[in-house]
Amino acid sequence: MIDPRARALQLVTGKGGVGKSTLVAALALAWAERGRRPLVVELGRRASIESVIAGAPRVGWDPVEVAPGVHATNVEGGRAVLEVLARWVRVRRLAQRALRSEVMQAFVDAAPGVVEMATMERILELLGDGWDPVLVDADASGHALMFLGLPQVFDELGAAGPVAALLARTRGLFADARRSALHLVTLPGALPVQETIELEARLREQGHVALGAVFVSRAPEAPRVSSERVEVLRTHADGALAPELAWLARDVALAAEARARIDALRARIGRDVIELPEIDETRPSIDALRALGHIALRGLA
Ligand SMILES: Nc1ncnc2c1ncn2[C@@H]1O[C@H](COP(=O)(O)OP(=O)(O)O)[C@@H](O)[C@H]1O
Ligand SMILES: [Mg+2]
Repeated sequence: MIDPRARALQLVTGKGGVGKSTLVAALALAWAERGRRPLVVELGRRASIESVIAGAPRVGWDPVEVAPGVHATNVEGGRAVLEVLARWVRVRRLAQRALRSEVMQAFVDAAPGVVEMATMERILELLGDGWDPVLVDADASGHALMFLGLPQVFDELGAAGPVAALLARTRGLFADARRSALHLVTLPGALPVQETIELEARLREQGHVALGAVFVSRAPEAPRVSSERVEVLRTHADGALAPELAWLARDVALAAEARARIDALRARIGRDVIELPEIDETRPSIDALRALGHIALRGLA
């Protein structure tokens, strides 16, 4: 299997708040420093890059530089559909009018997969434009992941014409471990770890996408002192230290539990589980993000 870092399409998914956008920005910064031409793709109306990189310009349809060497684009569904229509209808003004029409709007809203297909088309176009890698920040809880399974669904329905052609191209791309990787991001909590195990199993069973790594963000370091040791301290220490030691005991216990869950995840998944350390800053600096990105890349090696 080819080095996951070399793949042109890097999809990152996971529940909200687990650290996807942070990881995507971090990876992009590290890749830019290594001389590649990364493009961050936000899906829908989420302004994810702006929440990670302070002072980033507004991200719209056309790629814009958001940090040194890092560009970003927002692939909003309606616009993506318009672009595809414009290609088919040729005259953009007609496409625009068609899209504004109630019938067309109803179709876009109701027909399963229209937005997702248009999104795929856009991602293929960006890859064709030479962005490398294209990093897609995709929410597992929302629609975003849906497009991964779409090619199969439409295949079974017997799609024809341009739709069939698009589906064939994307199906090949998502499943091709030389060209794409889907990374999962999680937190070391009990529930997120369990959900990730289930999601990974489901994706592996479906076999539609080339799986990459599982990133555990905010992974605590192994505590340097054992819980038993802290308990010994607590029984012997002077009463004035009791509150401090209670905190220490709690910290050590939490870190130990998180470590145990990460080990279980590793044992269960049997593929790359990459730990990302906790960043201290509330709003990480570009340098801190880039450093995190290099840790992620070393993990992927
Ligand atoms: N490695 C990390 N260390 C510390 N805080 C982190 C880390 N990764 C993410 N965060 C914080 O967690 C919150 C959610 O991260 P974000 O990347 O926006 O998640 P998502 O895109 O999955 O919703 C943010 O406040 C972010 O700063
Ligand atoms: Mg996000």
